[in-house]
Amino acid sequence: MKRDYLRVLDLKRDEFFSLINRAIEFKSNKDLLKSSLVGKCIGMIFEKPSTRTRVSFDVAIYQLGGHPMCLSSKELQLSRGETIKDTAQVLSRYLDCIVIRTFSHKTIEEFAKWATIPVINALTDEHHPCQAMADMMTILEKKGKLEGIKLAYVGDGNNVANSLIEASALTGIKINIATPQGCEPLEEVVQKAKAFTEVKIFSDPEQAVLQADVIYTDVWLSMGEEGSIEKKKKLKNFQVNTKLLSKAKPDAIVMHCLPAHRGEEITDEVLDGPQSVVLDQAENRLHTSKAILEFLLTM
Ligand code: CP
Ligand code: NVA
Repeated sequence: MKRDYLRVLDLKRDEFFSLINRAIEFKSNKDLLKSSLVGKCIGMIFEKPSTRTRVSFDVAIYQLGGHPMCLSSKELQLSRGETIKDTAQVLSRYLDCIVIRTFSHKTIEEFAKWATIPVINALTDEHHPCQAMADMMTILEKKGKLEGIKLAYVGDGNNVANSLIEASALTGIKINIATPQGCEPLEEVVQKAKAFTEVKIFSDPEQAVLQADVIYTDVWLSMGEEGSIEKKKKLKNFQVNTKLLSKAKPDAIVMHCLPAHRGEEITDEVLDGPQSVVLDQAENRLHTSKAILEFLLTM
């Protein structure tokens, strides 16, 4: 039976930890299993822009000996009305795995339902599971543990927030979400995670970051939401700046999945400051992509 990685909770706790540890091995030993994807062709369909996800998967596939094939949905017959069912079944006859960035999570679920090869979620409106794995790897590297770490997410309760909540559930991180009314993360995600760890929703960012080991933020308007002026107004008090950072633990790290809208959800001073680990996060996308591909393609 093929496995997919559509959301963090598609993995069990021990699988999630072993993939992080495998990514740490990939990072420390560049020659490791250069050949695990030899002869394999991995398709990537991007319906939204991407810098980190697209390039890190492309490089990861190349470095493991496989062949990456990047496709925009406009180049496929999908753009002329061919169904997801037909596309997924046909591509499964050529490819060994498919990485997809799309809008609705239902689209990728439909794709995975018909594909007979593993499907990896490269971001949907609701989830960003590859990002969350790289984030957990980064926290482990910086803090030496995950269990009991206090993470405060400040801003829009979006795809990145949903996946961080699910990753917190698997790793035992205690997560606070500071967000205005109407921008909360998915209730279904929060309820599932609460069975495993502490998840608290705050309307005051200063309360949420008290004693935090990690402060995380993401853009106020995600791809596809660019015109939502009302939403941006609601989020204006949810900026990660020096004042907010001073309320967290003195050795707190600052995280952002990037790309950032500097001056909106985060100030230059904080993003470029000594507590920021955003470039390590971005680098870890490469190592975790390798771990995910190897797991799904060689199991
Ligand atoms: N963090 C992230 O997924 O970045 P891209 O949109 O550049 O892939
Ligand atoms: N929440 C952002 C993440 C980008 C990596 C978006 O969906 O646009």
